[in-house]
Amino acid sequence: MLRIVVCVSGGGTNLQAIIDGIAEGTIRNTEIAGVICNNAGAYALKRAENSGIPAFCISPKAYRDRTEFNAAFLEKLDELNPDLIVLAGFLVILPEEMIGKYRDRIINIHPSLIPSFCGTGYYGLKVHEAVLARGVKVTGATVHYVDEGTDTGRIIAQKAVEVLEGDTPEILQRRVMEQAEWKLLPEAIDRIAAAHG
Ligand code: GRF
Repeated sequence: MLRIVVCVSGGGTNLQAIIDGIAEGTIRNTEIAGVICNNAGAYALKRAENSGIPAFCISPKAYRDRTEFNAAFLEKLDELNPDLIVLAGFLVILPEEMIGKYRDRIINIHPSLIPSFCGTGYYGLKVHEAVLARGVKVTGATVHYVDEGTDTGRIIAQKAVEVLEGDTPEILQRRVMEQAEWKLLPEAIDRIAAAHG
């Protein structure tokens, strides 16, 4: 059984896709040991609660400095003893120590076709605003391993999504979520779980 911890910051639609995938059996051999969130108001916490999944809010605002936050975050992570850490819309800079300790066991979903529209400053709607500003006709999402860089780790899977006439950032974000993110992330977890034995 692959034990995963899902780290979230916002609406939690990717978390929900994982919860639903496990419930429907499209994600096999996997259990969510816990959800860690940095934002007390995130709806993702409600999604975890609704599914009876242990959820922990660890916000940088609750600590004197980044060192204290990093220590608290890593302590909770270690306590949950994950085989895999899934960043699903998680907007926190990861402690270097965590990346070293969990090397090749942290994956992230990014809402573009890396190496386009990624790196510092490219997150959430900003990604889709940049896609529309550039006028590309195809975008999509990428699941990748996390290393010390921003969106620079080894790519696991990608899925292309058409940009349509009249798209707003919000409409495009929704299409990328529905057609790419919510499929790619569960599929990647299922594949990792199958190899985990
Ligand atoms: C979305 O922009 C998504 O593309 C990215 O993180 C943001 C929040 O997603 N992965 P979620 O609804 O919290 O999963």
